[in-house]
Parts: sequence; C-alpha cells; structure tokens
Amino acid sequence: MASSRFTVFTLAVFSIFSLSQKRRNETGKISFTMQVGAANKLKLSPFESALDTLQNQIGYAFKNIGYLRRAMTHSSFSEENNKALSILGSNVIDTSVSMYYLGKDAEISSKDLNRRIADNSKVETSCAVDGMRLGLHKVVRVSPKTNSTTPSVVCSAFRALFGAIAIDTKKADDAGIVFWKVHGREVGKAMVM
Ligand SMILES: *[C@@H]1O[C@H](CO)[C@@H](O)[C@H](O)[C@H]1NC(C)=O
Ligand SMILES: *[C@@H]1O[C@H](CO)[C@@H](O)[C@H](O)[C@H]1NC(C)=O
Repeated sequence: MASSRFTVFTLAVFSIFSLSQKRRNETGKISFTMQVGAANKLKLSPFESALDTLQNQIGYAFKNIGYLRRAMTHSSFSEENNKALSILGSNVIDTSVSMYYLGKDAEISSKDLNRRIADNSKVETSCAVDGMRLGLHKVVRVSPKTNSTTPSVVCSAFRALFGAIAIDTKKADDAGIVFWKVHGREVGKAMVM
C-alpha cells in the first residue's frame, strides 16, 4: 500500500519534472510555474495557449484540437505536419472563391474566374498577408533553422487551417465561411449572412 503510494508520488513528480524540462526547452528560459501541488492544473504551454488565442481570433473552436495542432506544424518541425491539410485547405479556398463569384455572376468567363481564384490564393499578396495578420508566423512550429515569417511557411499554415476546419466539421462549406470571415471584408460580410 505504502509502496504503491510512493510509486504514484514518484511518477507524478517525474512527469511534472519532464513537463517543466520540455517547457524550458520550448520557451528558452526557465519557467517556475510548475509546482508539485498544481499537478491537476498544469498551465498551458505557449503553443497550446497560442492555439486557444487563434481559435478566438477566427471564431471557431475545434472539436479535435489535434487537427489545429497539426495545421500549425511545418514540415521542417515534424513528420506529422501540415502538408496534406494545406492541400485540402487550398482546395477549400478555391471552391469557396468559385462559389462566390459564380453565385454573383453565372456568366463569368473561365478566364475571369481563374483570375479571381489566383488572386485569392497568391502566396505573396493573399495568403501570407492573411496569415501574418492572424499572427500565424508566431504560432506555427518550425525547426530552429527555419524562418517562420517566410511567405511559404505562413501560407502553408494558413491553408492548413482551413483544411483542418473542414476535417474537424466534415464540411468544406464551414471552412469556407471561416475563410471569408478571415480574408474577406465586404465579400466576407455578404458570405457570412
Ligand atoms: C531539454 O533540454 C535538456 C538539455 O538541454 C535535455 O536533457 C532534455 O532531454 C530536453 N527535454 C526535452 C523534453 O526535450
Ligand atoms: C525571415 O523572412 C522574412 C520574410 O521573408 C524576412 O523579412 C526576414 O528578414 C527573415 N528573417 C531572418 C532572421 O532571416
């Protein structure tokens, strides 16, 4: 009895120790927020709290936070990354843009529609701008050698965000609505109504 209690205690202390080690490595400085008595109320890591803030910003709360975590993980950081989600997200954005412009004008030419699609998914002028405005460069996890402000990194995270929402809700439409909220101004308002 006594020995099993001791084991539980040791395990608890050990896991708190390794959590605080991890935290230290993540933030680059020692954090004293972990205390033995606080085992049930561990503070969120900086990454987890950034994910919380991001959900508030976009007005969407994930049912499965694992999808958002993956969307905010660049391929330089882990094998488990946002590459595939960003393909889906890119398609969600293209579909949503096509729906909007064809809905407004069924006579739109293929050339004009393609131009609209391209405008709304341009790396330098569209998705990196939207992604930076959301602060994704400060959220996305990259390897120490990778610059998280480069447009390609920000864009893959931005696109993956919508891929992740689509998978989380199992509906591409829902992800499209969040896209317009984040991206569109007057267009966004019209779509959300
Ligand atoms: C954190 O860094 C220390 C040494 O710098 C290392 O021993 C430890 O394994 C690292 N912990 C984690 C969780 O990465
Ligand atoms: C990271 O990339 C951004 C955008 O490309 C650039 O402005 C910045 O100087 C880069 N930072 C470093 C440390 O290379």
